[in-house]
Amino acid sequence: MSGTGGGSAQAHATAKTFAWVPCLMIITPSVNYRGIDMFVQHENFARALVADLIADNTLLGLLPNNACKLLVQRPDGHSAAIDLTPFRATPQPATAERFFRAVETVDGLLDAYRKAKRAAPFEEDLPGAHDHVDQYAGEFLAGLLSRARKALSDEEARRIGDWVSRFDLYVAVKAVESLVNSEADQTLLKIAPELGWTVHFDHLAIRCGSSARGDAERVVDNLCRHHAYVPAQVPGEDHYRFEDGWNAYLLYKMLDNGQALRLFIDQSDADHPAQIIQHWNYVYGYTAHHLAIRATRCEHGRRLAVSLPELTRALQNRGVETMAPTGQYTDGLLLQCFTRPQRNRDVPARIRQMVRRQGAELETAIENAKLLELVSRREMKPPFAKRCYALYGLEYDADNPLHSAPIYNYFLPEQAAHVIRTSMEHGSRRETT
Ligand SMILES: [Fe+2]
Repeated sequence: MSGTGGGSAQAHATAKTFAWVPCLMIITPSVNYRGIDMFVQHENFARALVADLIADNTLLGLLPNNACKLLVQRPDGHSAAIDLTPFRATPQPATAERFFRAVETVDGLLDAYRKAKRAAPFEEDLPGAHDHVDQYAGEFLAGLLSRARKALSDEEARRIGDWVSRFDLYVAVKAVESLVNSEADQTLLKIAPELGWTVHFDHLAIRCGSSARGDAERVVDNLCRHHAYVPAQVPGEDHYRFEDGWNAYLLYKMLDNGQALRLFIDQSDADHPAQIIQHWNYVYGYTAHHLAIRATRCEHGRRLAVSLPELTRALQNRGVETMAPTGQYTDGLLLQCFTRPQRNRDVPARIRQMVRRQGAELETAIENAKLLELVSRREMKPPFAKRCYALYGLEYDADNPLHSAPIYNYFLPEQAAHVIRTSMEHGSRRETT
């Protein structure tokens, strides 16, 4: 993390040199060498998947005139579409592996983290990205790493190193920052083996500043140019707008080891100065707002999702509290809830004063430094999982812990709005109790 000015960010940018790849070359490979639109295969797959779900008497309905989508009735009486067309992407290498695969100690983990962060452009390398981030963000991150050095055991460091070694550099670095920030994040990794579960990375949410400065767009551009992410090609699934003053870009990546990566890059709208995301970014920089994880188990050669109630019960048994879940109306396709936020009571007084001027409730919400999101996504039947992985040129193996094939790959905006709201409400309530 750099200071409040752009000077130090620029200095980082000149210290690292990276080959710039034209973004459009990465995100528009829609036609293969045979001249066939590859997306047709993805849509044909979605139609078959929808038909199979309907035949199984799903609670969800068919969307008229679009056989790739299911219709879901929300509790508020409104309906929403769930598009089952997989995102299109060319598998990329798991670039974190060479840094994290041999981690044996806490020092080894932190050393791998530093080297991984230097090996690709992150937000501190982007001119302008830290112009509206307070210097406290750098102190906050340094504090996390320093506390990790004292508090983590070598066994915990090995577990984290092993888990993130299957990802790319971006997700590995942000996941390490998340995992060392809260006990909740590490708990599921710790207890999964005794429960016979595999823990999967689902997504990361990165809080940027404001669309007034194009802060999320800058991060998205970096991720597409240098980290080989692609936006969803399904119309409406590449960018969400929320009526309470924020918006988000959704990025995807398939690794050649079969691990899918999802990123949720959000920012406040330019005309909503009190919206919380820009203030979180001011205080915490680009550390993840939350890491979202799932779990699966293998039964009779088939991978099955661990349900959200099972996940929350397992964590509650270890003293990790959870908040209101959402998504029960999706027939298991996407359920989510947050654990109790990791509160940061050390926000400097000058920042509290500044934030309070935008809204009294923000002073408490700003302490919600980091959350863990628990997710459950229903898995495809093996024949569909095989066919889905074949779309990426990969051979599906139900026993491979990285091969998870969720029926629904995207984020329902209605649920994203719910999880941000619950984290805000919780912050306010905690302050008065
Ligand atoms: Fe999320």
